[in-house]
Amino acid sequence: MSFRDVPKVELHLHLEGAAPPAFIRALAKEKKADIGGIFDAQGNYAYDGFDEFLKVYEAATSVLTTPEDYARLTRVVLEECAEQGVIYAETFLSPDFCGGGDVKAWWEYCAAMAEAAESAEKDLGITLKGIITCIRHFGPEKARAPAVCAAETVGDFITGFGMAGAETVGKPGDYAWAFDCAREAGLRLTCHAGEWGGAQMVRDTLDQLPGIERIGHGVGAAHDGALMERLARENITLEVCPGSNIALGVFRYWRDHPIEKLRENGIPVTVSTDDPPFFHTTMTQEYDKLNEVFGWNEEDFAALNQDAIAAAFCDEKTREDIVKRLKA
Ligand code: ADE
Ligand code: ZN
Repeated sequence: MSFRDVPKVELHLHLEGAAPPAFIRALAKEKKADIGGIFDAQGNYAYDGFDEFLKVYEAATSVLTTPEDYARLTRVVLEECAEQGVIYAETFLSPDFCGGGDVKAWWEYCAAMAEAAESAEKDLGITLKGIITCIRHFGPEKARAPAVCAAETVGDFITGFGMAGAETVGKPGDYAWAFDCAREAGLRLTCHAGEWGGAQMVRDTLDQLPGIERIGHGVGAAHDGALMERLARENITLEVCPGSNIALGVFRYWRDHPIEKLRENGIPVTVSTDDPPFFHTTMTQEYDKLNEVFGWNEEDFAALNQDAIAAAFCDEKTREDIVKRLKA
């Protein structure tokens, strides 16, 4: 059974992480950049473990050097999302990779991506919003520039701010300046936590960064009953990416994945792909696996997508439109 035609909402998707390897290879060839070492014999991204994944990710990203490259990437990614039945997506965008954190350069990258998103909305029927992310392993000082970029471009397209990267670096509170800056500018907040850092990292993130509404991954919370109660009570949505967790070795087998437990504990869970070509997944495959392993059916997916759009960082008119399309 395939759930390809179920209309879907995806909240956790890194734009560079969604770049098809063939797209990156073609750009590398155009620019005569040597990044051959990041692909395997089949042409897929090759890495062993999370640290190497981050290195390969950054090497692939290094060939994206102009606003036009990002416009093309946005188009390619949205075509693939639409193919998977996604009608609303949010994507993580990193000014560190788009103009090195320079606000003037970022304006141009941002405008190019917003324009590509607008044209995809017209001809593919998919809506995209952008969440600016700082990169945790670049350190707290480097997190300030993306927050300023976010504050400068908050609007119809840029609606959120968050943090990705290696959770092992620093404490969430070290990044408070960036999150305060983004929150004060009216951006909605999410943060990767509890992918690797366990329940304590999820708790520290909520305690040290006021205003966080969603947690990227958050699967470490499943070991901690009191924390699960808190997430449910405070209506903190988890952006769960099961296929990513399996591919990176957070869990060995799908049946070990805690998404069902988190849902049973009343936490709003959503499903996303994170970096689909890196993890050999698609939104349809995630749904097919959830059906096969946990027996989730069309009704479960309808409820899942209603929870996702309820937690989306979009304006109310967009939310109403997507709610209607999910029900149609
Ligand atoms: N950036 C891209 N994918 C990521 C992941 N799974 N965890 C942390 N940072 C990321
Ligand atoms: Zn992620």
